[in-house]
Order: sequence, then C-alpha cells, then structure tokens
Amino acid sequence: MSLNPIAQELNTIIKNANPHLMEMFSKTGRRLYFPKGILSQSAEAKQKADPEFNATIGIATENLHTMHLPSVMSFIDKEKIRPSEALTYAPSFGIPDLRKTWKEAMYEKNPSLAGKSVSLPVVTNGITHGISVFADMFLDPDDVVIFPDKMWGNNILVMSVRGDAEICNYPMFTSEGGFNVNAFAERVRMEADNNYKVVVFLNFPNNPTGYTITEKEADRITEVLVGVAEKDTNIIAVTDDAYFGLRYEDAPIKESLFSRLCDCHPRLLAVKLDGATKEMFVWGLRVGFITYGTRVVAGEHAPFYDALEKKTAGNIRGTVSNASHLSQRIVLKVLESPDFKKERAEKVAVLKGRANRLKELLTNPQYDDVWKMYPFNSGYFMCLQLKTVEAETLRVHLLDKYRTGLIATGKHDLRVAFSSVDEERIETLFENIYKGIKDLEG
Ligand SMILES: Cc1ncc(COP(=O)(O)O)c(C=O)c1O
Repeated sequence: MSLNPIAQELNTIIKNANPHLMEMFSKTGRRLYFPKGILSQSAEAKQKADPEFNATIGIATENLHTMHLPSVMSFIDKEKIRPSEALTYAPSFGIPDLRKTWKEAMYEKNPSLAGKSVSLPVVTNGITHGISVFADMFLDPDDVVIFPDKMWGNNILVMSVRGDAEICNYPMFTSEGGFNVNAFAERVRMEADNNYKVVVFLNFPNNPTGYTITEKEADRITEVLVGVAEKDTNIIAVTDDAYFGLRYEDAPIKESLFSRLCDCHPRLLAVKLDGATKEMFVWGLRVGFITYGTRVVAGEHAPFYDALEKKTAGNIRGTVSNASHLSQRIVLKVLESPDFKKERAEKVAVLKGRANRLKELLTNPQYDDVWKMYPFNSGYFMCLQLKTVEAETLRVHLLDKYRTGLIATGKHDLRVAFSSVDEERIETLFENIYKGIKDLEG
C-alpha cells in the first residue's frame, strides 16, 4: 500500500531525529498521519472567513453560539462551563490547555524530569484506550510484550486478542518478597536475543498486587533495559501509571519509572500511560494520556515529538475521533482549582488508613496457615496467595455464604480492592475470607 505523503513527511522527520523509531513502529504506525483535509480547511476558514459565513465546521451554531438543547445545558452550570466548552468537539490531540497543564503537573510530580525533554501528552479515552493506541502504533502480530505474572488482565484483550501480540511473563516476586529483577532481566535478555524489538510493560503501583518497586529495584530495571538497548535491540518500555501517587510507605519509588527511562538511549523509547481515572477519582470521565520520551540522535526534540504526536492523534482520529470535551474540560478546571491538591491528599489519606489497617490485621498468626500476602505498599488493591483452597471456589463460596465479593485473578490468587471497602469494615472482610476458607477446608 502506498504511503500518504503526510505520513512520509512525518516518517522523514522521525527518521532524521531517531532512525530506530522506524524499526519500532508497527506497519500501521509507519502509515499513520494526521490528515489536513477538513481540519486544516476549517482552521484556515477560522482565520480568514467572516464568522457569519464560516460553513466549514461539523457542529451546529445559532447566532454564532453553539446550538444546544436547554434541557442538556440544564445539567451543567453555564457560568462555569459554557456550551462551547462542553458540547463541541475537542481536538483529536485533546484540548491544548489540558495537555499543557497535565505536562506541567507531570514535571511537578516527577522532579527528576527537570531538564529532560518529553512530548506533550496526547489525550486518550482513558488509559485502556491509551494501551490500544500504543498497540496500534507499535505492535505487529507476534511482537513480544513482557509482563510480570501478576498483571491487569485487560492487557491481554487489548494487545493479544485484538492486537495478536505475544504476551509473555516472568515471576514478579522473589521468595524474599521483592521484585524479581533477575527473572525480569533473564526474560528481557532472552526475548532480545530472539527479536529485533522487545516491549516491556511496567505497572507500579501494580494491579493486582499493589506493589511498587524500590529505588534500588528501579535502578536495576533501568540498567537491564539500557544494557539490552546498548546491544542493539530496540526496547519500548511502557509505564502504566494508572495508580500513580497512591503510595503508603517510604520504600516505594516516589516518581514514575518514566523519568529514568525517557532519556537513556536512542534505542529505548519510554511511553507513559497515565490518566485522571484513578489519580483524580473520576473513573467514568475517561480521560487518559499518552506521552513519549527518548533520545534523539540528531537535531531537536521538538519536531520529532510533534511528528509522533501527530501520528498518535491520527490514530485517535481514525478510531474514537476525539475524547469527551466535557470530561476534558472538567479535568482541566479541577487541575486548575486551588482546592484540588488538598482534596486529593485527603482521599489518598483515606486509602492509606485502610492499607495500614489491613497490614496490621494481617499480622495475625492464624492467617499464616491459609494465605500469604503478596508484597504490597501502594495502589487500590492487595492480593492473597491461598494455601489450601482454590481462588475461584472460594470466590463463589464467599459470595453465596458471606455476601462478600472479591476477584479471583489466578488459580490461588485472590484480589482484594480495599479501595472500595471502608476502614471499619476491613476486619470483617478478612474474617469472612478466613471463615470461607475454613468452611471449604472442612
Ligand atoms: C493497571 C491498569 N491500567 C489501566 C487501567 C485502565 O484505566 P482506565 O479506566 O483509565 O481505562 C486499569 C484499570 O483498572 C488498570 O488497573
């Protein structure tokens, strides 16, 4: 299939700055571009045409204002969000102020990013869509994607079932209870020996275990990835930062791994997926972001990232077209609000209170015979490894007899979302699980 001239232009910019990117893209990624057609003609008309005679845009207006049904706007405070900010289309890239504000917040939350150059975040329809955009742009059938054996299952649907990629695992924890860097290194090196490109997903705080790596583990992960890149394998390291900032102990890293990985080596592309979803407790608003960081070998970062962002927005234009304008507007206004940081800190403290309570309860020696807790220090979840019964059998029994709902994530793994159980009920929750196990053992 012949390449669109705009895609060709973007590829040339990218290739001149970092030729390895061309080997990392999927076939779709190489073909992607952001079309000029209607969008650029509309932009031109906005500059040159009389507003009364601008017949380019695919929305409806009335007396130069956004046409709307009063009953729709009756649910939105017009003083705070106007119809033009709520009901019109957002750009496929996301609204510019939100992208800028999210990037500034990223530098604030990750101080070691200072002085490093990363792209402007492109807005996705939640983080799941960010994974899907990534898969379209960078995965061809049978490409290898490495995850630990404790992973969020939906990655399989997005990348393996839909994207036809090959997901492979390594054991996440050592018997001493830390991140298994040796197993990680072994898997990455083995895949690097057999492939020209390797994709690694790094999700901390982790779903389902609630584990975040330590500084030392983060350093070693970085060393492994850089080592492989130095031996000429292209590495794409995707950080899924869905639960960023929900940290309940001193040991876990404070920043995203993205800060370390985004300027290590031209053969190492860091892709950050994050979003308002869990960080801002707005799950259904569907506002996520995809951000890129790598080294260029020639020229400036700016045109290179601009071309990458255009390909990304082209993919969005060709799938969901754009993410909800109203949602983006709400997230932007909240980020700008003077109350936001304080309000968020209060909610994080609530989750931390539950995590502490749970850790305290789980020191009870009676539990040692029935389960082992996987390492956990952050996020929304913790996970139990059951010693005497199977997780699915227990899950069903707990529902039937104790009206208690949990998720079986593996044959013996049971995920507990303490994010959705109040602190005063956590003790009963674990008592129920314990009783359920004893019923089944009996
Ligand atoms: C690790 C991880 N990544 C991504 C997501 C998806 O987030 P979103 O709701 O923004 O699509 C989840 C949601 O459960 C998750 O646990």
